Amino acid sequence: MEVIIRDSAEEVSVLGAKIVARLVRRKPRCVLGLATGRTPLRLYLELIRLYAAGELDFSGVETFNLDEYVGLPPGHPQSYHFYMRENFFRHVNIPARLTHIPDGCSADLRRHCLDYETAIKEAGGIDLQLLGIGSNGHIGFNEPTGSLNSRTWIKILSEKTLKDNAALFPTPEEQPRHVISMGIGTILEAGHCVVLACGAQKSSAVKAMIEGPVSSMCPASALQLHPRATVIADSAAAARLDHSEHYRWIEQHKLDWQKYE
Ligand code: GLP
Repeated sequence: MEVIIRDSAEEVSVLGAKIVARLVRRKPRCVLGLATGRTPLRLYLELIRLYAAGELDFSGVETFNLDEYVGLPPGHPQSYHFYMRENFFRHVNIPARLTHIPDGCSADLRRHCLDYETAIKEAGGIDLQLLGIGSNGHIGFNEPTGSLNSRTWIKILSEKTLKDNAALFPTPEEQPRHVISMGIGTILEAGHCVVLACGAQKSSAVKAMIEGPVSSMCPASALQLHPRATVIADSAAAARLDHSEHYRWIEQHKLDWQKYE
């Protein structure tokens, strides 16, 4: 794993955006895997800024989102369709037909999950998958003890995740217990996985993801098996790491072509 530690969440987001922007410039018809949650919001703002400044063109880009709540229609303010439209898609020029988000209201959810996997394959696979991490180590909505080889499917949220995200919903009754999420196996097939982690509440999960054993108790630890996984953490999220000095040393000794900035 490549571990990059920055002082602030701001620096984490701007670096994450640089990595995405670099890919879009090098491969204008790339396939991006996108994430939701509070963490990537600033990264999307930075990409929007680059687009508005004429420094980035998304016209050939195709996107696949990680997950969506079951039962929330696209117009629901807590749906990830709504989130993506408001926080990213409506501000840039990705053709709408090339944006994909699981449909949590599909009449046949199981069929839909299989079709989502097929659509990713038909697009040529995901070049770069953006990820956040839950405080219990989930990525996408793959909760602890789920298979590390899982595919896109209907998943049940843990009580911990429901609690972490409760504030985003007006009442507990409106918070779905079920989601569609790409599986860990799906995520591991992306060409490059980039995890953003910010804040002290993520520090235990970050420690387990990077320095813990590969275990379904921390689904993000499966990224240790990925040939190209990059974790960008702010100092609060990295606070529990035992080998921060080693990660800084590695970063200082990168060859020019290995550097992002
Ligand atoms: C959410 C999402 C994840 C996200 C994580 C952390 O529930 N499904 O994709 O990475 O939990 O969210 P946040 O960035 O808001 O802390």
